[in-house]
Amino acid sequence: SKKPVRVAVTGAAGQIGYALLFRIASGEMLGKDQPVILQLLEIPDEKAQNALKGVIMELEDCAFPLLAGIEAHADPLTAFKDTDYALLVGARPRGPGMERADLLAANAQIFTAQGKALNAVASRNVKVLVVGNPANTNAYIAMKSAPDLPAKNFTAMLRLDHNRAASQLAAKANFAVGDIKQLTVWGNHSPTMYADYRFASVNGKSVKDMINDQEWNANVFLPTVGKRGAAIIAARGLSSAASAANAAIDHMRDWALGSNGEWVTMGVPSNGEYGIPAGIVFGFPVTTTADGEYKIVEGLEIDAFSQECINKTLAELQGEQDGVKHLL
Ligand code: NAI
Repeated sequence: SKKPVRVAVTGAAGQIGYALLFRIASGEMLGKDQPVILQLLEIPDEKAQNALKGVIMELEDCAFPLLAGIEAHADPLTAFKDTDYALLVGARPRGPGMERADLLAANAQIFTAQGKALNAVASRNVKVLVVGNPANTNAYIAMKSAPDLPAKNFTAMLRLDHNRAASQLAAKANFAVGDIKQLTVWGNHSPTMYADYRFASVNGKSVKDMINDQEWNANVFLPTVGKRGAAIIAARGLSSAASAANAAIDHMRDWALGSNGEWVTMGVPSNGEYGIPAGIVFGFPVTTTADGEYKIVEGLEIDAFSQECINKTLAELQGEQDGVKHLL
């Protein structure tokens, strides 16, 4: 059987952690033949560490055959030791009366420390997925704090936006959601993201032609996908957790095991593609290979409407990045 791989998860006692860890341990992320060792990080706070102990008890009680070890940590320098995968879920939420600058600063501190820890102790091939918000900017901070690791190994989660878009399109045009190909989401994981179905197809038929309604695209579809997180908070009283965990599984699985030539959306550092300045962590269409590499899909035509959407989400990201520059 295969040698176990190490999977670090931060914020492991949070809501997304609770929806995520059991699926990783059951083999849904890295394959039903891949044993895993979970290295779980929570803040040192006693309540959080106790909650983490409870989650570990439940993981034990599942008797997952692929779960080769579980560790609880309060320090990223031990949590990330030799880790092959790191899912950075824990982040500082926006508290009452908290200014945007305070939020950015609190998260800059967390992701600077975690980037440095990854740089010091993780596997040199570690694959990092940042889920904690603001996800793109947090990924950028971690990447900048880990100069000895390849920048391309730092990614942010846009997959929930991608999956939300797929589901809205399937409902609108009445097709099976699993049949859609060549969908993507550009930009920031925020309401400014640009879900782009101009290239999407279902069984060889163009989704754009099936829908043929630019007014719906601009005024219904994009706002629905962009504000879906807020709609879930309004309905559930809590932010999306199971769907976020599911997207994290999709993102990591496709990155690790390959997408068979299909497009998936990942937030990755730009190399200058589509005029996005190099280093900005931006949602792009990518294809992934079975040896764990991804490649940004190049040469797509960007029409005037799309350019306007991309400019808007890019401007927001540049604003966030400028807001943390002095902290790096
Ligand atoms: P939560 O508040 O239930 O759990 C977060 C956990 O992280 C808490 O247990 C907290 O103690 C822990 N934590 C905080 N700082 C930490 C640190 N420095 N090191 C280790 N652990 C730390 O939140 P939930 O619902 O699990 O969400 C987590 C994050 O994911 C939030 O930032 C949320 O905004 C974000 N998110 C991102 C999505 C995306 O699509 N990129 C979708 C949904 C949520």
